[in-house]
Amino acid sequence: MSRAAAITSLDAPFAARLDAVAAETERLLDRLLSAQPLGGETVRPQRLIDAMRHASLGGGKRLRPFLTVETAALFQAPRERALMAGAAIECVHCYSLIHDDLPAMDDDALRRGRPTVHKAFDEATAILAGDSLLTLAFDIMVRPETHPDAAVRVALVSGLARAAGVGGMTGGQMLDLAAEGRFGMQGPRSESDTLTMQAMKTGALLRLACVAGAILGSAPQDAHDALARYGNALGQAFQIADDLLDVEGDAATLGKSTGKDAANGKATLVSILGLDGAHARLDALVADAEDALAPFGAAAGTLRAAARFVAERRA
Ligand code: IPE
Ligand code: IPE
Ligand code: MG
Ligand code: MG
Ligand code: MG
Repeated sequence: MSRAAAITSLDAPFAARLDAVAAETERLLDRLLSAQPLGGETVRPQRLIDAMRHASLGGGKRLRPFLTVETAALFQAPRERALMAGAAIECVHCYSLIHDDLPAMDDDALRRGRPTVHKAFDEATAILAGDSLLTLAFDIMVRPETHPDAAVRVALVSGLARAAGVGGMTGGQMLDLAAEGRFGMQGPRSESDTLTMQAMKTGALLRLACVAGAILGSAPQDAHDALARYGNALGQAFQIADDLLDVEGDAATLGKSTGKDAANGKATLVSILGLDGAHARLDALVADAEDALAPFGAAAGTLRAAARFVAERRA
């Protein structure tokens, strides 16, 4: 049974589509993470390439590339281009996980069922592997294979930079750590502050993965806005599900440790709303994500299933 089929009770066609993108993303990342230097490069140190490959290959749901492929398909944008953009976004995601797991951050030893990069290698190598994946993401995004029109590539690069940086993912990670009471700072603890932090640390990249399909397909503004709304709801749902899995999930199935958020004093919607409240919010967000897809009609069936998958997943 496929990994997707094993972790969800959802319909087989959805699992097959997710598996197909995961396999294509795996092959593409394998090629992009070759030890062979490219024009303008000198050598690619083997230890660093090995650490980048450890972080990026052989695991992960590949949900972000999947969202880019499926949103691009709404506008008949070529799949190979969507896979390139999705691979770039996945590189940023994998980098964020390496750094998230470092002792200075969440201090985790297990990721995707394997030792985290700083455990399998060392902290310095893990920091550099994260840096290198972030940079590689932009290298991938600007290649003509991603889109022949440079203006489209600039829009993708700008979107990725804003999603990944100080006003997006890394900014959200800062607020997440501050909420633990670090740095003598009073971090976000109210519901609204926690929502802002989560929209940044997790939501920004998931939203970009959805909007990237509209950018690749030169979609009209209203379609772009509908996918941004879908991505926002999906991103929020995704982090609530992640926080619920930290309490209710099984570490072996998840491939990462559980029970750490409460132990570390993380700000989560589970701590604010309780388990029942968080489940109710999750259901409402899935409904909102599905509602945002109304303008696309039946063509968005797979994206509707993706919203349900995010809520029902066990890994
Ligand atoms: C986990 O992301 C980290 C968060 C953003 C909450 P995923 O659950 O998408 O991780 P992989 O890529 O499938 O391992
Ligand atoms: C991680 O959130 C978000 C990013 C990596 C940007 P978590 O810290 O909750 O993710 P897990 O639970 O370690 O996967
Ligand atoms: Mg974290
Ligand atoms: Mg973590
Ligand atoms: Mg978590």
